[in-house]
Amino acid sequence: MNVLRTENLSVNFDGFRAVDNCSIAIEENKITALIGPNGAGKTTLFNLLAGTFPSTEGAIFFQEKEITKKSPRERFQLGMARTFQIPHEFHRLTVLENLMVVPLEQQGESLWANWFIPLSVKNKEKKVQQQAWETLEFLELTSVANELAGKLSGGQKKLLELGRAMMSGAKFMLLDEIAAGVNRTLLRKLEQKIIELNEQRGYTFLLIEHDTEMVQKLSNKVICMVAGSILAEGSFVEICNHPTVLEAYLGEAV
Ligand SMILES: Nc1ncnc2c1ncn2[C@@H]1O[C@H](COP(=O)(O)OP(=O)(O)O)[C@@H](O)[C@H]1O
Ligand SMILES: [Mg+2]
Repeated sequence: MNVLRTENLSVNFDGFRAVDNCSIAIEENKITALIGPNGAGKTTLFNLLAGTFPSTEGAIFFQEKEITKKSPRERFQLGMARTFQIPHEFHRLTVLENLMVVPLEQQGESLWANWFIPLSVKNKEKKVQQQAWETLEFLELTSVANELAGKLSGGQKKLLELGRAMMSGAKFMLLDEIAAGVNRTLLRKLEQKIIELNEQRGYTFLLIEHDTEMVQKLSNKVICMVAGSILAEGSFVEICNHPTVLEAYLGEAV
């Protein structure tokens, strides 16, 4: 079954078609990688899927229900979570608090006053706290639970992003370059966590990734995007040997 599907999805920015007639299908309980040169439109496609801005044309289906016009929060509530190329943690909250506020964000509570959050979090049920600790344990971040999130290393912030996505309860995750800027040791840990979530907990991932080794290790399917369009899709080996894909990458250090 497809968890997510798009039909002829496009977006225009002042006449520039950043995403051009894209039809993709993401299979449930699989890891799909979205690759392509810089500027190909990968993040823009994620923004359309997450509802950050509307598409100009086309349709999006989540679990076979159309969500084209739904807001980012509605999509979040339906079970679609995303991580950002640049982590979006609350740097003045602790790591634990960053996880605990996710259910509040999901309910649509206003988070503008960061300094009031710890209080509202404290009033929340023990369940959320327990879930946050379990998530920290899973990600091996318990030792930094009470550190301010802003003090974490780049790699730890990426793990926290994954943890925040897990706290939403969503089983479909869009990961935008989660490996970028992460050191080798943490990268291996991230890969292992993604595999565990997929194989043992039934998570589906669509990930934008430049690290070829990671794409090879993780993905069941690779979709290659160039200049706003889907150029090819297939297994990692098929994509690596695809003449047009190789041509598109010539001159690109990927
Ligand atoms: N909000 C926007 N307004 C105008 N142009 C945009 C906007 N977002 C992205 N673009 C353009 O769309 C193209 C694709 O960008 P992006 O999706 O970030 O590529 P990728 O993630 O594949 O590197 C780029 O040329 C970028 O400048
Ligand atoms: Mg990008």
